[in-house]
Amino acid sequence: MKVAVFDTHRYDREALEASNARFGHALVFFEPRLTAQTAQLAQGFPGVCSFVNDKVDAAALEVLAAGGTRVVALRSAGYNHVDLVAAARLGIRVVRVPEYSPYAVAEHAVALVLALNRRIHQAYARVRDWNFSLDGLVGFDLHGKTVGVVGTGRIGRAAARIFRGFGCRLLCFDVVPDPEVELELGAQYVPLDTLYRDADIITLHVPLTPGTHHLVSAEALGKMKRGVMLINTGRGALIDSRALIEALKRGHMGAAGLDVYEEEEGIFFQDLSGKVLQDDVLARLLTFPNVLVTSHQAFLTREALGNIADTTLGSLQAFERGEPLAHEVKAEQVLRTPAR
Ligand code: NAI
Repeated sequence: MKVAVFDTHRYDREALEASNARFGHALVFFEPRLTAQTAQLAQGFPGVCSFVNDKVDAAALEVLAAGGTRVVALRSAGYNHVDLVAAARLGIRVVRVPEYSPYAVAEHAVALVLALNRRIHQAYARVRDWNFSLDGLVGFDLHGKTVGVVGTGRIGRAAARIFRGFGCRLLCFDVVPDPEVELELGAQYVPLDTLYRDADIITLHVPLTPGTHHLVSAEALGKMKRGVMLINTGRGALIDSRALIEALKRGHMGAAGLDVYEEEEGIFFQDLSGKVLQDDVLARLLTFPNVLVTSHQAFLTREALGNIADTTLGSLQAFERGEPLAHEVKAEQVLRTPAR
């Protein structure tokens, strides 16, 4: 199938081309993100391949439909950036990659915890400046600390297993608690307020839906323990960034590790060095020594990229052959997602 691949970076292209040796699609790579303005590039392509910061809204989908696109394959698990109702109305099917490596994302969440706790980012810069003093680098033992896992799906569970290995106590919250998680990990499902009250570290692994938008609000932050560490590898808008800044300024928030940011679109995945950062909220977040921001890289392992490519190209092949689409996402699924 002729497929227009948007928001292509070198690592995407390498993984897709390697996998495509088995599928034989005609892949054409475009660097721009998919938006209503760039959708015209896909004129005459029945397949479109898109990533998380594309804006697959009704306007973009209308241009795609008019150009003959019939399937949009997301190279991501999350699908909050797609107007699924408009896609259904226009007869465009949407597929995603529900699972490619929960380990990649969970391990990155834990990497943020370890780096923030032991001030690795500061120690690295300090030692390179020949400053070998230890003042200000005191961390805490993870062993025995309470970790709150919000969302115990594939990634949350993988993260919980790692924290369990460190000897942490696990408190979990999910709209659909899984007794297996309690049995396997000795974890305990508790109401969200209890998790906020008792956890030393909170890690977010729920999808972004209308029900989880700004889940971590000023009110939620106020319920958390003073000195808590908050990790977000889910989606940026799970956290109200302005409220987070206030909590950091007050010293209520001990540290924050953010792989995602609510206004990351147009910033993350780009080299903006040498430019003036226009986003004042992100700029403020970057001034805190106890905040570590990575540019939505939690997924970025060789294994994950290979799995993303295989699943995406496999779904496009299934579509082309008229076979059932195992990884299709439909509007009803989003509307059914329970509110918090
Ligand atoms: P999953 O679907 O396996 O698990 C999500 C869990 O959240 C489920 O157990 C579900 O019941 C729960 N949930 C849904 N709504 C909830 C609510 N309102 N309150 C409490 N729990 C709720 O998803 P998976 O694979 O674990 O991924 C989680 C999220 O991680 C994705 O939706 C995506 O946004 C994000 N992600 C981030 C990546 C990165 O590179 N930073 C890469 C991959 C995923």
